Amino acid sequence: MAPQKKRADSNPDLEDQNILVKDANIWTGHGFTRGSILIEEGRIRKTSRRTDAGRHEAIDASGLCALPGLIDVHVHLRDMGLAYKEDFATGTAAAAAGGFTTVLDMPNTLPPTDTPRRLVEKEREASKKARVNIGFHAAAVPEAKTTQALARAGAFSLKLYMPKPIAPFNVEDDAQIRQLMNNAREARIPVTVHAEDIVSRKETPATDSFRQLADGRPPIFETRAVERIVRIQRQTGCKVHFCHLTLKSSLDKIAAESSSVTSEVTPHHLWLSQRVLEKVGWKAWMVPPLRSEAERRRLLSATCSGASDVVASDHAPHTVGEKERQPGSSLPGVPGLETELPLMLTLVSKGTLNLSLLVKLLADNPARIFGLRSKAKLRPGYDGDVILVDLKKRSRIDSSKFFSKAKFSPFDGMTTKGALVSTIVSGRLVYHDGEMLGKEGCGPVLRSSFSS
Ligand code: NCD
Ligand code: ZN
Repeated sequence: MAPQKKRADSNPDLEDQNILVKDANIWTGHGFTRGSILIEEGRIRKTSRRTDAGRHEAIDASGLCALPGLIDVHVHLRDMGLAYKEDFATGTAAAAAGGFTTVLDMPNTLPPTDTPRRLVEKEREASKKARVNIGFHAAAVPEAKTTQALARAGAFSLKLYMPKPIAPFNVEDDAQIRQLMNNAREARIPVTVHAEDIVSRKETPATDSFRQLADGRPPIFETRAVERIVRIQRQTGCKVHFCHLTLKSSLDKIAAESSSVTSEVTPHHLWLSQRVLEKVGWKAWMVPPLRSEAERRRLLSATCSGASDVVASDHAPHTVGEKERQPGSSLPGVPGLETELPLMLTLVSKGTLNLSLLVKLLADNPARIFGLRSKAKLRPGYDGDVILVDLKKRSRIDSSKFFSKAKFSPFDGMTTKGALVSTIVSGRLVYHDGEMLGKEGCGPVLRSSFSS
């Protein structure tokens, strides 16, 4: 199983981006076909029944499934001023160990990603540290000019945090959101939305417990936010992607809209309910909060029937010290990059989710929505981003082994079925069987191409 190193020929600068994945069950988009994938100079050259490694490195994938590299469109890799929580090296190591060959980073950093200059600074830092493909979302800003500039600089979306906007927005004012969406449509960049209409809260909730804290952000906040944003989207025609939705009713509402409006759910809202929050407290505290068991079941069953477009981790690392505080002071967010794939594969092994839908939710749809045209297919000409998966392997979630700096998880101790074995990014074996092989800086920095 260990990869055998061989010398490559052709362009010496790209020689470490040649690899032959031998004897895999290759995902075709509908099922599997047995064969090998030849990646040359970072791109898939061919898939065929029999291919000679020649002088390329080869990896024996017999008994394993080759899937397109997964794409996580919602991660907080922090870095810059918040590098003590996570940085591009550790965050992308967590991505590689989780089967994600591409991640899109959120803008609520220090400083926030709210100007083209700050976007470029992040890109520069990431180019020295990233181990997988990385692109950046920017903050929603009120000015048309900055919106245009952020889109031209390669931002993948403008993120609107309804509970606490990064730039000075009055989210209660429909006219301001309409202006944002008009600016975004003209710049051909999507708006991503954290949909909680928190301004409608009448009194400050009591915060004796995490459960009370969660009750202070009830489902109606999401419902109202989705309704308002959808109504304004219809007037503007802007592309809108809703982040981490928690209610089946939100998914249904969005599915009934045009294909410009898309939805995302997280593994924690699919797997965990308020019961877990009551039991483990800070380890399961995130926003939007976990919902009732009945709501969780509805969300899971809707997602497994294809009602959601995307599953994303909302990987939100913090230090244990920042989490362990009292309810109200504990920071919301949990790391998710290293638990998402085993959890989703476990749903496949139980027969709850089919593998075809898993690949759509974690690769095809993210690529389509965010314009990653050369990704998510194992076909000649596509990027050489491939993962190898053992569908039968059982493991136990153990956050002390995470590559992420955030070594805690509400899933700790859970047994999963279906595990990642290898991650190949642009033809480089970055992760294999517990070992991080990819060097810092080997991951490409991506710029969006919505307007091209
Ligand atoms: C996120 C974070 O920590 O950046 N936390 C979370 O609970 N999801 C912020 C956010 O996505 O709202
Ligand atoms: Zn988030």
